[in-house]
Amino acid sequence: MKILAIETSADDTGIAILESKKKKDEVSFTILANKIHTQIDIHTEYGGIFPMMAKREHGKNMIPTIVSALKEAKLFSPCKSKKIDLKLESKLQEMLSRENDLGSVMIEFLRSIKKPAIDAIAVTVGPGLEPALWVGISTARALSCAWDIPVIPVNHMEGHVLSTLVKNKKVFTYTKDTLQFPVLSLLISGGHTELVLMKNWMKYSIVGQTRDDAVGEAFDKVARMLGLPYPGGPEISKLAAFERNNVQHSTITLPRPMMYTKDFDFSFSGLKTAVLYYIRDNGPLTDKMKSKIALEFENAVVDVLSMKTLHALEKYKAKTFIVGGGVSANTYLQKVLKEKIKKYDKAIKVNFPTKILSTDNALMIAIAGYFQSQKKKPTKSTTKLRANGNLSL
Ligand code: KG4
Ligand code: ZN
Repeated sequence: MKILAIETSADDTGIAILESKKKKDEVSFTILANKIHTQIDIHTEYGGIFPMMAKREHGKNMIPTIVSALKEAKLFSPCKSKKIDLKLESKLQEMLSRENDLGSVMIEFLRSIKKPAIDAIAVTVGPGLEPALWVGISTARALSCAWDIPVIPVNHMEGHVLSTLVKNKKVFTYTKDTLQFPVLSLLISGGHTELVLMKNWMKYSIVGQTRDDAVGEAFDKVARMLGLPYPGGPEISKLAAFERNNVQHSTITLPRPMMYTKDFDFSFSGLKTAVLYYIRDNGPLTDKMKSKIALEFENAVVDVLSMKTLHALEKYKAKTFIVGGGVSANTYLQKVLKEKIKKYDKAIKVNFPTKILSTDNALMIAIAGYFQSQKKKPTKSTTKLRANGNLSL
């Protein structure tokens, strides 16, 4: 089975094509294509993501990204002005009517190629920015209708959890023994901060989450206060690493919100405000002060995330630990989590995704889509597909 996956929940237009072959107790996967068109440059200029701007960019980048994925997968056979039934054409225009001129571009695209050997389309339906999600969903509906193949709706968070099943090579396999249950996942990005427990295969429960800002959002907002560009995580991390090399200990103190509460929830808005007050009371900002704040802020975030993670691993007797989302690229967090978990229990398997799989991508949507399709047969009826910005696992 070949799945074409579409991811548009935030600021990356992702298209992946994944082939699966099921043998008895094993599934072997081949990555045929994995394409990302990032909008980072545009959002950097404005210091954050604006949903309507993200939507417009997805609309512009969608077909070129699909074409480049199909070409990479060697599934692109050009065709000179294929005829499209008038009824189909007006149906496609209607499906894409909310997406600016994507309708006409889509019809032109469908005219230009032979139907590729794709068996199903997986698409992110939430959580995320609804205007952005709709671009992916409308595209999936149109392709499903034109190529007469089913659509598999995918939860973006399930994608992050399952992203560590994707290995850093073209071909990889999945067997019953790939994951040891219970599995605990820490999902940390610009839009989410969650601890998710998977007691059994594909049975999820959220055991903790942020009550206000997501951790990546806190990185981005603090970076902005320090005059650093978007996305702020890598910038703060660089300054913090520099300062950590120079000083033994942090010389300022920021709060560690909710670190000692018994639940597994988080809160980062107070920490962000504490930085604001620190700058107000100790300014003007100098380069030295920026580094000091970056170090203490990163320490505070890592202290809270690692403390809660360790307690959750202990409480739920997890055998596997997975980290996902853009913030998992933070090297200091990786180092501390690995050290602490090893000290606590060497037997726990710790999985950090590779950088390209930690941030939003369509490959994780393809793999989640594959397993969803094994659980529930996907249908060609797409009228009920909806974007749900707050979709929960
Ligand atoms: O998963 P992602 O690409 O997009 C979503 O938000 O879904 O995550 C982006 C977030 C941004 O907030 C960015 O600042 C943060 O991940 N980030 C980092 C690092 N790299 C990216 N945060 C801390 N340290 C990093 N090295
Ligand atoms: Zn994400």
